[in-house]
Amino acid sequence: MSAPVVTIDGPSGAGKGTVARLLANRLGWHLLDSGALYRLVALAGERSGLDPEDVAGHARLAGALDVRFTTRPDGSERIELAGQDVALAIRTETAGAGASRVARWPEVRQALLARQRGFAESPGLVADGRDMGTAIFPDAPLKIFLTASAEERAIRRHKQLKEKGVAVNLADLSREIEARDRQDSTRSVSPLKPASDALHVDSSARSPLEVVAVIWQHGAARGLWPTA
Ligand code: C5P
Repeated sequence: MSAPVVTIDGPSGAGKGTVARLLANRLGWHLLDSGALYRLVALAGERSGLDPEDVAGHARLAGALDVRFTTRPDGSERIELAGQDVALAIRTETAGAGASRVARWPEVRQALLARQRGFAESPGLVADGRDMGTAIFPDAPLKIFLTASAEERAIRRHKQLKEKGVAVNLADLSREIEARDRQDSTRSVSPLKPASDALHVDSSARSPLEVVAVIWQHGAARGLWPTA
C-alpha cells in the first residue's frame, strides 16, 4: 500500500510552508515543498544563461535538477543546487516570480511530476504547493486549501523575508504577490484552485500551531493518526 499523503495548497503567504513543516515534524513524515522545485528550475535557468522564455531548455533542467534538501543544526532549511547553497537565493520575490513564469509550462510541470510523487514514502508525506491535491496526489486522504486575507499574506511574507535579511518594501511586495497569484490562478495547466474534496482553512486569525491543530483534528477523524 502506498504511503498516506496530506496535501496543503493555497496562495502565497497563506502559511503553507510553516504549517506543512510543523505537521510533518509532529508526524515524523516526509515533507515536499513543491514550490522550491519551481524556484530551483527558474534559478538553474538563470544561472545557466537560458533565455527566460526557453520552454524546452527549462524542461530539460527540471528533469535533471541536481538538488539536495537538508536541515541545518539550527532547524533552518539547506537547499543545494549542484552543490551550491541556494536556500536564500530561491526565497526572494524575484525568485518567486521566476518560479511562477516557468510553472506555466506543461513541459516543466511534467518533468517534475515523477520527482514529486517519489516523495510519497513510508510512513507518510505532507506536500505543500498549488496543485498537490488536484494534480499530483489526487487520491490523498486529506486535502487542505489554506487561505488568508491578501493583507495578512503580504505582511507575513514581508516578515519572513526580513528575518532572512532580504530588504523589501511592503507595498511592492503586496503588488508582486498579487501578480503572482493572478498568474498562478489563471494559467491553463494545474492552476491554483482547491480540489473539490479539499477542506478550506482560513489562517488569517490563526497561528501556525492553531492551523496544525485544526488539520490534526481532521486527520484523526479520518483515522490517519491518533486523536492526541
Ligand atoms: O510556494 P512557493 O511560493 O514557493 O511557489 C513558487 C511558485 O511556484 C508559485 O507562485 C507557483 O507559480 C509555482 N508552484 C506551482 N505549483 C506548485 C508549487 C508552486 O505552480 N505545486
